Amino acid sequence: MKQSDFDKYEDSYVETVERSIQFSGLKHDFFQQAKQKMLRQVIYKHFRGNEKLSLLDVGCGVGSLHPYIKELVHSIVGVDISHQSIKRAKLNNSDNRYFSYDGERLPFEANKFNIVMAVCVMHHVHPDKWSFFLSEMSRVTQENGLVVVIEHNPLNPLTKFAVSRCPFDVDATLLSARRVSKLMKYNNLNHLDSKYFIFSPSNKSFVNQVEKRLAWLPFGGQYIAVGIK
Ligand SMILES: C[S@@+](CC[C@H](N)C(=O)[O-])C[C@H]1O[C@@H](n2cnc3c(N)ncnc32)[C@H](O)[C@@H]1O
Repeated sequence: MKQSDFDKYEDSYVETVERSIQFSGLKHDFFQQAKQKMLRQVIYKHFRGNEKLSLLDVGCGVGSLHPYIKELVHSIVGVDISHQSIKRAKLNNSDNRYFSYDGERLPFEANKFNIVMAVCVMHHVHPDKWSFFLSEMSRVTQENGLVVVIEHNPLNPLTKFAVSRCPFDVDATLLSARRVSKLMKYNNLNHLDSKYFIFSPSNKSFVNQVEKRLAWLPFGGQYIAVGIK
């Protein structure tokens, strides 16, 4: 699958994801809420609500996560290799800025953003380019800023099943949290933490509390890996 094939999903990204997770009875919104909670924890723990934070979302797609996280930061910039997705992201989120690029060097100067994240993108990047991809994320992150990677957990069988059903994941090479951690360290980031999440299909607050305690167990559906520059 060519990377720009995400152009095809400009109008149907959420529906396509929902078809691949239909067996779980969960909606795309459930996963976005879960990611928002994890990002909130990470951002508040590190920055303590003290700064007007700038966030770059690398591989932002149609920007479907941005309405969920807009309260967490001051500004959001998104980039993606899919021109059509970027067009759609602009329509969906007029307060943010979006750019398409070639997937190589990020089109920003060094040390620009407080937080640079990539959500479910690295499994679409060729493994030979993983290190470069992270080095670029690191380059445009400010000193003491965060590089955040959210990914599918290859150790979770239901995640693997969902990925196998998703038409735009035909090229996917899932990578473990341990691998991301090593790559972060290799690129001079201090690897702060990896946490697993989505252990159950419930959003109830007591389930969330239990999940928080299980976050070290490598069985959640997804994980968040955080490096500090
Ligand atoms: C599964 S989608 C995730 C979109 C978005 N991050 C989200 O969570 O809704 C993967 C996205 O990564 C983009 N992508 C793939 N390779 C990329 C690269 N090297 N640089 C930037 N974006 C890339 C694709 O075009 C696609 O929009």
